[in-house]
Amino acid sequence: MNNMIQTAGPSISQKEINYTLDAVKNGWYENWSGYITRFEEEFARYIGAKYAISTSSCTGALHLILASLRLKKGDEVIVPNTTWVATANVVKYVNAEPVFADVDKDTYTLSPESLEKSITKKTRAIIPVHLYGHPADMDPILEIADEYGLYIIEDAAPSIGSEYKGKKVGNLGDAAGFSFQGAKLMVTGEGGMLVTDNDEIYETASLIANQGRDPNIDFWIREIGLKYKMSNIQAALGLAQLERIDELIAKKRTIYNWYKNKLSGLDGIQLSTEKEWARSIHWMTSLVLDDSIPVEREELRKKLLSENIDTRPLFPPINKFPMFKGCNCPNSEFLYKRGINLPSALNLTKDDINFVSDTIVDLLELASKILTH
Ligand SMILES: Cc1ncc(COP(=O)(O)O)c(C=O)c1O
Repeated sequence: MNNMIQTAGPSISQKEINYTLDAVKNGWYENWSGYITRFEEEFARYIGAKYAISTSSCTGALHLILASLRLKKGDEVIVPNTTWVATANVVKYVNAEPVFADVDKDTYTLSPESLEKSITKKTRAIIPVHLYGHPADMDPILEIADEYGLYIIEDAAPSIGSEYKGKKVGNLGDAAGFSFQGAKLMVTGEGGMLVTDNDEIYETASLIANQGRDPNIDFWIREIGLKYKMSNIQAALGLAQLERIDELIAKKRTIYNWYKNKLSGLDGIQLSTEKEWARSIHWMTSLVLDDSIPVEREELRKKLLSENIDTRPLFPPINKFPMFKGCNCPNSEFLYKRGINLPSALNLTKDDINFVSDTIVDLLELASKILTH
């Protein structure tokens, strides 16, 4: 049986095995946090931020950030309508209200126009998402945040190493969260990182992240806290991945270019893009079918699956979930209806990508012929 051509998956080398084994064997007693400290320091340096706090997930990192802002019931936080549900869930965790804004059709990220229309007197923060490896268009978003006095929390879960106008994402707003869950560019199994330059957010997040423990009095608790910690063993794996990050990004970009050579410029297909102001890590190369293509997104996915090609739909518009509401967001609805993530796992070869691309072209050509017959 052929192996499945996967949408996502990591690259693990001997370095990751060595570091993790060392953490398992030696990372206890006085060495219990050695890899955690190194991973946090190296990650902060990589992003260009002052502080990094490792966490058990990006969801945890984003929750800690929102908790540190001391939002109160009724406060509103603007979230793009195309994202993973975690971006909105964390707003609910702190009893605030997520308000959904539409996304740009090319980058799938927060539309500054829709964002501005969504602002009310209750808005306190914005969470732009750098989705599928491509940064959000941050300058207009930062301008709006400045004008209305709003916090910016970047959800950079799938975009480690992406750049906006030459600056790494995660260092453009007040604080950011990253994910190292097993499908991401860098993995620690599950895991995440909070980064910030802001002393106050860092101090408060550190306190809350540690069950509210007073840093100066042993085992004394100052307030109700959270526990979203990363283990030393995971940090060892993360550090090894970080030391290989340029190689990992280069492979993602190569995969994208293989697709581009085969699929860009074809009628009726929009391949995910890289804006002139962006350096995308192309965590997932994606494709959106024009309405002119007589194929349903699910039909295409089913046919690809029958050829052992794994795909995902672009994220559903999250205002449609039963616990959320609001948003006139035609772009996020269109992207869900017509968009798929293509296989982009780090183990894929040029032959794999050629096979996927040829299969897509054959299926779409066949469908067009049947329709025009
Ligand atoms: C855009 C986005 N935000 C947040 C998350 C949450 O990350 P984690 O699974 O590490 O909590 C993800 C994970 O897929 C994501 O894609």
